[in-house]
Amino acid sequence: MAILVLGGAGYIGSHTVYELVDAGRDVVIVDNLQTGFKAAVHPKARFYQVDIRDRKALDEVFEKESIDGVIHFAASSQVGESMSDPLKYYDNNMYGTMVLLQSMVAHNVGKIVFSSTAATYGEPERVPILESDRTCPTNCYGETKLSMEKMMAWVSKAHGLRFVALRYFNACGAHTSGKIGEAHSPETHLIPLILQVPNGQRAKISIFGDDYATKDGTCIRDYIHVTDLAQAHILALDYLMKGGENNVFNLGNGVGFTVKEVIDCARRVTGHPIPAETCPRRAGDPAQLIASSVKAKEVLGWKPRFDDLDTIMSTAWGWHKSHPHGFEEV
Ligand code: UFG
Repeated sequence: MAILVLGGAGYIGSHTVYELVDAGRDVVIVDNLQTGFKAAVHPKARFYQVDIRDRKALDEVFEKESIDGVIHFAASSQVGESMSDPLKYYDNNMYGTMVLLQSMVAHNVGKIVFSSTAATYGEPERVPILESDRTCPTNCYGETKLSMEKMMAWVSKAHGLRFVALRYFNACGAHTSGKIGEAHSPETHLIPLILQVPNGQRAKISIFGDDYATKDGTCIRDYIHVTDLAQAHILALDYLMKGGENNVFNLGNGVGFTVKEVIDCARRVTGHPIPAETCPRRAGDPAQLIASSVKAKEVLGWKPRFDDLDTIMSTAWGWHKSHPHGFEEV
């Protein structure tokens, strides 16, 4: 029996496939390569270049392969883009998930681990954030992810499918092998943008706002290593395989770092001065996002290995230094 990973050529998807293969699992990948990369596909996984909105092609994968469980990463994930082009998010994220669930129900595949986000909470009422806290997304990306969670809950009631939604905080870092890492186009995330400075691709890093109510005025985030996220997916799948019921888990380290602290960390790790300049706030940024991941630790037995920001930064720097253009050959 195989595990089907949708979006397995993307950033978090490819790292999860590497962990699954290392754990001896048989893996099938579906990815349309719109934002994923063929070079990120693990050589031991069977790869289908298929868009999850293509029901016929997806049905063919379920018919050809013997699928035991599904891990679903295939979605658009840029907050800013979701505000300027919301219908793209309804199409790729909501409609894509609907087609996937139709195909799963038709083929009696009843277990799915789903890539959700801290953006489902919106502006938090308190930190650390618990899974039971209010969900009130402030952008269309978070809204579609929350709707996808709800879609699964209704399909579960009707058809008995079981799901785990994993709400990630700030995914970062790269595989310690140096073979895969973060590559977005355009890049919008803080750590890869900072590392473009010592890589000679950017003169300085912009700090989006230093007038937040935090210790140094810059936004606080909970940075979690991508391999720790990957491990949580395997644990969540095992939980469903053992009969676990529908559940939602936050995934973060439970420690917040300001933007200035992250830049300082990059200065330490790279040995580069990394000039920074303060710019206006970016629309829609909550001041602080910090996870309580107590539930994932207690219920899934999750133990993040990379709980130190310098170590996380070193893995990211190792990747970006050796792959300044990501997976693209220039
Ligand atoms: N930031 C800067 N300068 C930059 C880029 C980012 O100061 O050049 C700041 C942002 O304003 C924010 C922090 O760095 O305060 C982190 O920004 P990222 O873009 O790296 O990450 P976000 O916290 O905005 O987004 C992450 C995930 C999203 C998810 C969101 C939940 O990437 O997928 O958390 O709020 F939706």
